Amino acid sequence: MNNQNSIKRLVVGISGASGVQLGLKFIDFIPNDIEIYLVLSKSAKYTLSLESKDNDFFHYSSNKNITVYEDTELGAPVSSGSFQTDAFIIVPCSMNTLAKCTVGISDTLITRVFSVMLKEKRNIVIAPREMPYNTIQLENMSKLSSLGVTIAPPVIGYYSDQQTLEDMEKFIIGKWFDLLHIKHNLFKRWGE
Ligand SMILES: Cc1cc2nc3c(=O)[nH]c(=O)nc-3n(C[C@H](O)[C@H](O)[C@H](O)COP(=O)(O)O)c2cc1C
Repeated sequence: MNNQNSIKRLVVGISGASGVQLGLKFIDFIPNDIEIYLVLSKSAKYTLSLESKDNDFFHYSSNKNITVYEDTELGAPVSSGSFQTDAFIIVPCSMNTLAKCTVGISDTLITRVFSVMLKEKRNIVIAPREMPYNTIQLENMSKLSSLGVTIAPPVIGYYSDQQTLEDMEKFIIGKWFDLLHIKHNLFKRWGE
């Protein structure tokens, strides 16, 4: 079996929903042969500072093939469709960023990348984090889904022999990897 990943360039947006750390762990597991372009929103940094003692996000992403942009850097290469990338994930995605994406607002790098990836018909995965969802949020997700965006919230499962929080996180990250066509061994698949 071919062990090469079928994607080469992945853009990762991290917005200010709870669980910025999960987004950073997601990056930690990305194989080194994939180029990562990372954007954290201002709120993501704030949320991280409140939810984690370790809020130095570079610490998580050391040894990675990674380029980091500010959310204000609207001139970054990833803001143009002519820059070739394979996929985009917003993980976690706040309801604010979700709403902006739905109506086409692109006043930050994360929302601009979304607009670009959508027009270029590239693979977009959104991991919305809120609990419960209100009707506006559900309608926003429905609209994006109808446009071909994959809505994949961080939802736990129990069918893969998960014992610990780390197992649960690896299960969720593995599900995102599947959607992005990144090979992994993060959880035991049902029937295998
Ligand atoms: C500690 C903390 C946790 C938060 N959790 C969530 C959340 O789970 N979902 C959400 O949509 N917003 C959450 N928010 C609110 C967002 O950070 C806020 O709406 C912000 O404007 C999002 O900005 P952004 O979309 O540019 O990242 C949280 C804020 C804080 C401070």
